[in-house]
Amino acid sequence: MTPEMLLALRDPAGVPSHPLVFLVLGVLTFALHIAAVQVMLGAGALTLRGAFSASTYWRRLAAAMLTTSKIAVSVAIVLGVAPLLFVQVVYDPFWYTSNVLSAWWVIGFIGILIVGYIALYVFYWKNHDIVKEGGRGGVWMVASLALLLAVGFIVHSLTNQMLFPEQWMAWYAPGGVVQPDGHSLHYWNLPRFGFFIALAAPVTGAWLYAYRRYLQGSAQPDVAYIAWLAPLAQKLMLVGGVVAVLLGAAWMATLPAKMAWFAVSPWSLIALLALLATVALPLLLRGRLDRGYWGYAIFGAGAVALIVVGAAREVLRYVTLAGTHGYDALDYRINMDWYSTALFFSTFGVLGAVTLGYLLTIAWQAGQTQGTYTPSPAINRLGSVAIGLLVVWTAVYFGVGLFVQMR
Ligand code: HEM
Repeated sequence: MTPEMLLALRDPAGVPSHPLVFLVLGVLTFALHIAAVQVMLGAGALTLRGAFSASTYWRRLAAAMLTTSKIAVSVAIVLGVAPLLFVQVVYDPFWYTSNVLSAWWVIGFIGILIVGYIALYVFYWKNHDIVKEGGRGGVWMVASLALLLAVGFIVHSLTNQMLFPEQWMAWYAPGGVVQPDGHSLHYWNLPRFGFFIALAAPVTGAWLYAYRRYLQGSAQPDVAYIAWLAPLAQKLMLVGGVVAVLLGAAWMATLPAKMAWFAVSPWSLIALLALLATVALPLLLRGRLDRGYWGYAIFGAGAVALIVVGAAREVLRYVTLAGTHGYDALDYRINMDWYSTALFFSTFGVLGAVTLGYLLTIAWQAGQTQGTYTPSPAINRLGSVAIGLLVVWTAVYFGVGLFVQMR
């Protein structure tokens, strides 16, 4: 596949803002997506471990993690759409070819995701009180985790197939015989996939630190349960962190020749250091974890480490496609559209911040209150502002669209 052919597959309309904007947003939203995926998987695994346990603490944790996992799936899906948009804008020749080569799986992805999510809900519906009654129907939770992992595997494969334009013809027409059915996934790297999945353990450990800090702030904290959570969180971070780093090393060792430079580049080293620093943070903070916001800081540090990992992952893709295949994502033709750029950032920064700020504040304060929670007048005003902004946003979005159409 020559650089000219790859460039010919680009959208002739160009991109509506500088390509760097898309690359940076792609990295940031990928980090958020993968963090949600990891909390979803880790919380799901803890649910399975705890729901059938004789220990009340384990069952209590399972009940909390089931709710967490359920919400994390929807967050992971919503935050999966964002990097999807960015990757297809700047890497469209690669992303769409990879998708078309495995079209059956691209469509199947949606069905598998729906069934996986429903299976999680079936488990939830079957378990109204895990603490008192113990778990029921674990097979649904196992099925859910397996299907959600399958979804991740499909995305992993699509993401990696795009990096091998030299293989596309052989995948499309093996032995010269065209196979346009899109039935196959053609490339995967299990250590790479395993690395991102294994990170679920330390990320969930960091999440548990935040969970126990949150419980400490409630009206009547259960000191014994909170103390029980600490070593579990630490074990998840340390053991999970080591397993993830080993899988990361295996990924580096199995990189194909054209990407081998990455294994010994500063990028992989910085990513490794960021992960190790996060895993070591609870050991450094110790007693401070129970004071102020330090208990939450571990998850914050984990999020930063995931952004660093995401950036390194993007460098691997950018340099591989620019260096080996002559496709520089940064020289995409720019067809500057200030309106859509401003709309995007104001949606993200203003509407998103106010609406999410309102919802999170309500959820936070309700969880810390005994009995019925009544929001303060200031919080209620924030809610009204959020609704007002949504109305204005909808009017502007459709108004401008209609105006442009009718002009
Ligand atoms: C719910 C189960 C899911 C799991 C377990 C999962 C897991 C993963 C993993 C492991 C990666 C990294 C792949 C790699 O770099 O090798 C990834 C990337 C990605 N995922 Fe997900 N994912 C899930 C759902 C979704 C959904 C529903 C969407 C879209 C709506 C999505 C969109 C993406 C995108 C766009 C990327 C990055 C693509 C790129 O930068 O090339 N994922 N996901």
